[in-house]
Amino acid sequence: MRLFTTVAGLRCYLNLETSGLGISKKPEGAKPVSSHDDVTVGLVPTMGALHAGHLSLVERARRENQIVVVSIFVNPLQFGPNEDFQRYPRTLERDRQLCEQAGVDAIFAPSALELYGAHSLDLIKVTQVIPPAAMMAELCGRSRPGHFQGVATVVTKLFNLVQPDRAYFGQKDAQQLAILQRMSADLNIPVEIVPCPIVREPDGLALSSRNQYLTTEQQSQAPVLYRSLQRAEQLFRQGHSCRIDLISAVKDEIATVSDVRLEYVELVHPATMTPIENIEETGLLAIAAHLGTTRLIDNILLRKRQPIIAIDGPAGAGKSTVARQVAQALGLLYLDTGAMYRAVTWLVQQSEIDLTDEPAIAELVSRCDIRLENGDDGMVAERTQASSDAPHTPLMLKPLKVWIDGQEVTQAIRHPDVTAQVSAIAALPTVRRELVKRQQDYGRTGGVVMDGRDIGTFVFPDAELKIFLTASVQERARRRQLDLRNQGQPEISLSELEQLIHERDYKDSTRAIAPLQKAKDAIEIKTDGFTVDEVTAQIVTLYQTRLDT
Ligand code: PAJ
Repeated sequence: MRLFTTVAGLRCYLNLETSGLGISKKPEGAKPVSSHDDVTVGLVPTMGALHAGHLSLVERARRENQIVVVSIFVNPLQFGPNEDFQRYPRTLERDRQLCEQAGVDAIFAPSALELYGAHSLDLIKVTQVIPPAAMMAELCGRSRPGHFQGVATVVTKLFNLVQPDRAYFGQKDAQQLAILQRMSADLNIPVEIVPCPIVREPDGLALSSRNQYLTTEQQSQAPVLYRSLQRAEQLFRQGHSCRIDLISAVKDEIATVSDVRLEYVELVHPATMTPIENIEETGLLAIAAHLGTTRLIDNILLRKRQPIIAIDGPAGAGKSTVARQVAQALGLLYLDTGAMYRAVTWLVQQSEIDLTDEPAIAELVSRCDIRLENGDDGMVAERTQASSDAPHTPLMLKPLKVWIDGQEVTQAIRHPDVTAQVSAIAALPTVRRELVKRQQDYGRTGGVVMDGRDIGTFVFPDAELKIFLTASVQERARRRQLDLRNQGQPEISLSELEQLIHERDYKDSTRAIAPLQKAKDAIEIKTDGFTVDEVTAQIVTLYQTRLDT
C-alpha cells in the first residue's frame, strides 16, 4: 500500500496505475488488471479515525474496483468556528494499518496547505461549491452554516484529483450523501456515488469517529437514538406514516434519557431533504442530539414500497426460470433484463446505427423508454392465491409484455437477428449503465423479482429478500446435457460440460462488469435434487414468512 501526502505523488501514481503501468501488487481476491478499460478506481473519502463503518465502505470499494484510494483529511472548511476541528481525533498510523489490512491500494492524506495552497489559512478566499439552499435548510444544515458547502468543495477537489469511477459514502450522513448525489448530477461529474448502509454497534449505536468523546456512562445512554428511530419504525410498520406520529414516537423515547438533548428530529424526502407531512413512498427520519459536549446523528429510511427479490447465482443454477415462477406465484413483476437488452438491440437495429458506434448507441439508449408488464394481471392474481395453497403445482408461465418507445416488441425481440447481436450490445458499458438505471427506477416502487450476478450486491443492494441460487458443477452439467438433448443439439460429454462450467464460473466471478457476487445477507439455496417448482416454493415460503405482513 502507498501513502501519499502530495497531489503530485498521488497524480503520478494514479496515472501509472490506470494506464496499466503501475507496479502495485493486487491483494488476493482483487480483480486482475487486464487492459486500460478495466482499471476502475474507487474512492472512499474520510476524515480518518477509521472504524468499522469506514471499513465497510472500503470493503465494498475493494470488491468493485481494481484500485482503491482512501482519502484522510480533516477538512477545516467544513467545521464551524465553535466546532471540534482542533479536537477531532487524528490517528494516521492506526488508520494506515487498518487500510493496509483492508487491501487499500493508496491513502491520500494531504495537509491543509497541500490541498488549499496559499489560502489554507484564509479559507474565505477559496473557490467554493454551493449546494442548493433548500437541501441545506433542514437537519444539520440549520445548526451548521457553511458545513455542506465545505463538504461539497473538498469532495469536488478530491473527485478532480482522483477522478474515481465510483465514490463511496455512508447513509449515516444522509444529508451529506443526498447533497453529494445532487452535486455530482448537477455538475455532471462522471462518478458513480455508491450509498452504503449504516454500521452499528451491537447495542444499535451508529459508529462514528466522535463516539470516542463519549464517557462510559454516555456510551450506555447513546443507543437511545437508534431505539427511538426503531420505535418510530415499528409504528410505521403498523400503518402510521404521518410526520406527527413518527416524530412524537422518537421524542417520547428520547425523553426517557434525560441527559440527551435533542437538537432536531425531522421527516424529510431522502433525495431532496425537504420536510414531508406523510410518507407516500420513502421518508428519511433523521435525528441529532447532544450528549454532554458530543453531537450525535442517526437516521432511518422508511419505505412503503413492495419488496424486491434479488436472485443471484452462477450460470446454469436455474435462476431465470425460478425468478419468473417466483414473480408469477407472488404476483410481482419479473424484471427480465434479457428482454431489456433484446429490446435495446432491436431498437439499435431499427435505427440502423452501426454496432461499433458506441456514442450513437449511448444517445439512443439514454433516450429510449422501455416498459415491461405482466402478461395478464388478473390471471397472475388468481395464481397467487392457488400457489400459496398448493405451492408444488407447476405454474404455466405467462409471457412478459415488452414495449420500447411506445411499440410492443414482445415477439419482435425473439427474432434470430436480435439473438445474434444481443451479447455484443449488452457488453457495452454505456448500455449496461443505462439499463441498470432503468431497473433501479422500477425498483423504486418495488414489487419486482430480478435475477443476475450482482443484483443483490449492486443493482438492488437494499432488496428485502436476497437469494443466492447455486448447484454443484456436476448437477449443472447434467442439466445442461439434458437441455442440449431436448434442443436436438450434438451431445457433449459430462466431463467436458463440467470443464466448461468451471471456466464460465471463473470468468463470471472475475469479469470487470457485473461480476458474480454473493451478498453477505443473501440466503443460499443449493438446488441439487430439487425441481424448479420445489425451489420456487422454498422462496415463496421465505417471502411469506419473512416479508408478507
Ligand atoms: P467521515 O465522518 O470520516 O466519514 C467518512 C465516510 O464514512 C462518510 O461517507 C460517512 O457517511 C461514512 N460513515 C461514517 N460512519 C459510518 C457508519 N457508522 N456506517 C457507515 N458509514 C459511515 O463524512 C466525512 O468524513 C466528511 O464529511 C467527508 C465526506 C470525508 C468530507 O470531508
